[in-house]
Amino acid sequence: MCGIVGYVGPQQAAEVVLGGLSRLEYRGYDSAGIAVADATRIDVRRSVGKLANLTALVHRQPLAGTSGIGHTRWATHGGVTEANAHPHLDARGEIVVIQNGIVENYLALKAGLQSRGHVFSSQTDTEVIARLVGEAYEQTGTLEGAVRQALTQLRGGNAVVVMARREPGRIVAARLGNAGGVVIGVGAGEMFVASDVPAILDHTRRVMFLEDRELAVIEAAGARLTTIEGAPVTRQPMSIPWDPVSAERGDFKHFMQKEIFEQPRALTDVLRGRIDIDGGRIVLDELTLDDDALRRIERVCIVGCGTAWHAGLVARYVIEALARVRVDVEYGSEFRYREALLGADTLMLVITQSGETVDTLAAMEAARAAGVPSAALVNAVGSQAARLADAGAIYLHAGPEIGVASTKAFTTMLVAAYLLALRLAAVRGTIGDIAMRQHIQALIELPGHVARLLETPQIYLDLAERYHTVASALFLGRQVNYPIALEGALKLKEISYIHAEGYPAGELKHGPIALIDRNVPVVCIAVRDAVYEKMLSNIEQVQARGGHVIAIATAGDDHLRRTVEHVIELPETLPLLTPVLASIPMQLLAYAIAVRRGADVDQPRNLAKSVTVE
Ligand code: G6P
Repeated sequence: MCGIVGYVGPQQAAEVVLGGLSRLEYRGYDSAGIAVADATRIDVRRSVGKLANLTALVHRQPLAGTSGIGHTRWATHGGVTEANAHPHLDARGEIVVIQNGIVENYLALKAGLQSRGHVFSSQTDTEVIARLVGEAYEQTGTLEGAVRQALTQLRGGNAVVVMARREPGRIVAARLGNAGGVVIGVGAGEMFVASDVPAILDHTRRVMFLEDRELAVIEAAGARLTTIEGAPVTRQPMSIPWDPVSAERGDFKHFMQKEIFEQPRALTDVLRGRIDIDGGRIVLDELTLDDDALRRIERVCIVGCGTAWHAGLVARYVIEALARVRVDVEYGSEFRYREALLGADTLMLVITQSGETVDTLAAMEAARAAGVPSAALVNAVGSQAARLADAGAIYLHAGPEIGVASTKAFTTMLVAAYLLALRLAAVRGTIGDIAMRQHIQALIELPGHVARLLETPQIYLDLAERYHTVASALFLGRQVNYPIALEGALKLKEISYIHAEGYPAGELKHGPIALIDRNVPVVCIAVRDAVYEKMLSNIEQVQARGGHVIAIATAGDDHLRRTVEHVIELPETLPLLTPVLASIPMQLLAYAIAVRRGADVDQPRNLAKSVTVE
């Protein structure tokens, strides 16, 4: 959702803040704004649309000063207008506020403020915070005290960052709930604050994360942390292993393309140090549960959103097949409002790239309340999910993922889930030594297979040329590749805006077959596995209705080559690992079609990379 960047130090703040915001463009936003303070004044610039509009405005009307805060907005309350863009000001124009999240009781607060004579200049909930801080400032006389006082009145989850004209060189940042992270970057004689690590990676890798209900007073010399109530908090900075180069697009046309091509490296990294080849075992030291506890697990409850939910569906097949444990998979937004039964022998397993998705975090809170341990398959180092995972955070090591459509995070989620399944299988005695070694061998070969799959871009360009004008597409798969059909459809619709549906192929006859005609391409994942013959029947049913089949097949499948219009071949691997390979054509196809249609691949309309509001 909204992106936040702040700076205090010797440099001109506008440059640092705008540079940081440009690193967050991938989050998705509709307007942007910045406030810069010098010794005597605070100036604000705001602009609708892309960050380039704000940058151009700041060029025309420069901002001088060495402390500043900036924001990219994803509209929740009030339309996309300059007046609704952040920062928002208090009644005297002395306090500037940016926010990520939602003030759930803003209507009641606004009514109270209006009855005290406030006239609002925006429709946002954030302006309510600015007004409250402004009122409190008159009483407390300090920004820190005023923010504290204002925050006690808010309900909901918020990351709030504030400056005051009378306190130049100081930023107050606070976090309430899970609506968005606040990371503080520690430099030499300068400090940063942001919603996401990539915003400040150009400047520092030493960071501190704010926890729920914590507040930081940030000055060039350092940051002082307390709880909202004022109790001191001691926190040492940690080091983020990502380097700024990995957050650059390089020679690639889009971040999504770069991230697709990074997968051989990402898959190598997710395996690194986790396979003991000589011992024939999986090493997942991050799991804090001992072998006895792992043996006692009777149910794994997987929660995720979007692409991560698809990874969860694959994980269900893999964990149930290998470790023989019952698995349920649920969307975070559904799980959190259900009266879910979380028994003592349940393991909560959340899957999340950003580690900040508010609905996924809610499942972890529910698990904690029920006394159930949570583990996380998570990419963003130090994110809230990683910190809440009392049973261990298993990092994906995919590096920063910038493209809104998830690619390398997805395939590393699949592999991390596979590693976890093998670890569970070993401790529960559901896998023998020989089988374990076969799985390990197959995992080791996986990055090379993916690299080979990335060597044939022409096939996707041809398919894009042929199908980029269709109105609708279908994706079919069975069993462990059914979620890959869902993911293929999601990839296509989110970046090309073509209507696409993923289905388990066995459901074809129960409805979607009615959609098939000569204008509908149907992507069928038909690898050689236990349901291969069934997929062949489904393919014939599609062809009989004039649908154009794009088959994702195992290398050397002469039958499909002879009978199907388009065939994309996957290197041979174990059936449970085919989803990793089948994902690659899904990504490349969606990417090629979106580019052919001239779509904004990295920042698709209406979407956000990190969904921190409900
Ligand atoms: C957003 C993103 C998706 C992502 C989902 C879950 O919708 O656009 O790409 O799959 O959130 O995000 P997470 O960070 O929890 O994996």
